[in-house]
Amino acid sequence: MGMLDGKVAVVTGSGNGVGRGEAVMLADHGAKVVVNDLGGSVAGGDAGDQRAADAVVEVIKSRGGEAVANYDSVADFDGAANIVTTALDAFGRLDNLVNNAGVLRDKMMFSMSPEDFDAVVKVHMYGTFNTMRHASEHWRNESKEGRQPRASIINTVSSAGLQGQASQINYGAAKAGIAAMTVIASLELARYGVRANCVGPGGFTRMVAMAMKDIEVKNPEDYTEFDAMNPGNSAPAVVYLASDESLHVTGQVLRLVGNNLAVYQPWEMGEQFLATDKAGNAAQWNPIDIGRILNRYHFRSQNPGIDAQRRA
Ligand SMILES: NC(=O)c1ccc[n+]([C@@H]2O[C@H](COP(=O)([O-])OP(=O)(O)OC[C@H]3O[C@@H](n4cnc5c(N)ncnc54)[C@H](O)[C@@H]3O)[C@@H](O)[C@H]2O)c1
Repeated sequence: MGMLDGKVAVVTGSGNGVGRGEAVMLADHGAKVVVNDLGGSVAGGDAGDQRAADAVVEVIKSRGGEAVANYDSVADFDGAANIVTTALDAFGRLDNLVNNAGVLRDKMMFSMSPEDFDAVVKVHMYGTFNTMRHASEHWRNESKEGRQPRASIINTVSSAGLQGQASQINYGAAKAGIAAMTVIASLELARYGVRANCVGPGGFTRMVAMAMKDIEVKNPEDYTEFDAMNPGNSAPAVVYLASDESLHVTGQVLRLVGNNLAVYQPWEMGEQFLATDKAGNAAQWNPIDIGRILNRYHFRSQNPGIDAQRRA
């Protein structure tokens, strides 16, 4: 018995790197997989190549699994509908939507063109919305017709969005947006039997090779022993979140890089301070008091910026 026997999964951008590892491991655990990939370059915007998705379908079949290819762009709203339809036509159902497709165009913001901003946000954030939009409509219909899904959306985030990374204002904005959309999806879709979580992966891929020129990029299934840089190392978290072992898990952001599994904390309210007048009644803040209160109780410094510069 596989953890995912009977389930059908879509993995976007699974012709290379992280997504490829996820598609292969989902199939190894019994899922039937739609391998979506338009077969573009790391920067995107170029003509596609069907061989990227076809190669992964062959890998899955050679290991005894079931898979079909789809070559649509997730950035295209109708293309994303076709990705969902491919799963329904080929396998008759959809249980897991793994949004992994991505492109990268790093630049400092003062040098970034609107096209470079758009291209990255279009694939990551719109791409994630587009597929979720169509899959969630399908699952809502299933639920309303009395076939309550046990479905799972797994979106892909990055520390670039959750912690910040210079030169990635486009990519970081998209990844932070994806984390926020995932929490919202978890709230909107719970009643229809759909969970939504994120995974933050890592590993040496052609995308990482844009910044680190000397790395060796291998396909996840070509590693013969554990390697902390295998981009397939995040796949176990995706299998877990796709399975019925995680029916109680939604709205979570996991990070799995190498052998290190971590749980991100969401944005949450920190310290709170209330302004009052001399009589103790609620009152509007005076700007000068905001600095005094924050310096004293939060920054614990008279002038945090200047103090930090002196320490550096
Ligand atoms: N590699 C890492 O260390 C790392 C770290 C954090 C997050 N990520 C995320 O993991 C995901 C995969 O990245 P990767 O490193 O494997 O990169 P990759 O370039 O190896 O793979 C990305 C795949 O997405 C496909 N793709 C691009 N645009 C597409 C579109 N519009 N429609 C369909 N497919 C499309 C590409 O053809 C490619 O096969 C991305 O979302 C990335 O942001 C990777």
